[in-house]
Amino acid sequence: MLSSVYAPKDFKRLRVSGDLVARCFDFITPYVVAGISTGEIDRLVAAFLKENGARSSDLGYMGYPKSICTSINEVVCHGIPSDDVILKDGDIVNIDLTAEYHGFHGDASRMFMIGNVSSKARELVQTCQDALNAAISICAPGVPLSEIGKVIESVAKPHGFSIVRDYCGHGIGKVMHDNPNILHFYDKSYDKLIMQPGFVFTIEPMINVGTWMCKTDEKDGWTVRTADGSLSAQWEHTLGITEDGVIIFTEKMLND
Ligand code: MF3
Ligand code: CO
Ligand code: CO
Repeated sequence: MLSSVYAPKDFKRLRVSGDLVARCFDFITPYVVAGISTGEIDRLVAAFLKENGARSSDLGYMGYPKSICTSINEVVCHGIPSDDVILKDGDIVNIDLTAEYHGFHGDASRMFMIGNVSSKARELVQTCQDALNAAISICAPGVPLSEIGKVIESVAKPHGFSIVRDYCGHGIGKVMHDNPNILHFYDKSYDKLIMQPGFVFTIEPMINVGTWMCKTDEKDGWTVRTADGSLSAQWEHTLGITEDGVIIFTEKMLND
């Protein structure tokens, strides 16, 4: 079932929420350099959202303690910002930011490369972004949801990278996480779910250099790492299916 289907007037709201998320990323980008703590980045985001009349959808979600997720190197997702974690030369870091503005959520994540990054890490980050963009490009009314995973596999596999199976994209809108799940690998049961105008969802592939298997930190209950300690990357956008294609909500509005 596609639960997250919205009317055109809601698309206008989702566009504004997504724009705010994109502008928040642009605001923090100059600060994401070697020497800053992830706790400081979290505070910058919290202040930006407050100033703009929005709130973090993550803060308090199932007890989550911070406003963003910051996932460095072998961390796949849900890394918790901390004043004790300092970004250093050679790190790759995913910042995942979900904001609620006037009742509608926008969810996006981007990778940042700190200083001199290894060529393998750069290849991973680029391939993951290419996989997200390729998946977005095939979204339109009438397309089965299973095509998303097919396309992501076709981009990641030639590089020998693996696709995380334990975490997926999701319907989104008036709530952060809604049905259906959006798988980033091919699963034939999703052949039967068809994109329709008004459908709002995320695509957020997590791609690893080594195994796709993950393990969650037992102490904090949140931080997800690759089981073999290999590097992981992720990019995410919130999207909506229109009458003739797809709109990316979590991009900056120019003059539309
Ligand atoms: N932004 C994440 C997603 O893409 C959700 C984070 S939930 C949190 O779905 F509780 F970890 F913040
Ligand atoms: Co997210
Ligand atoms: Co998401």
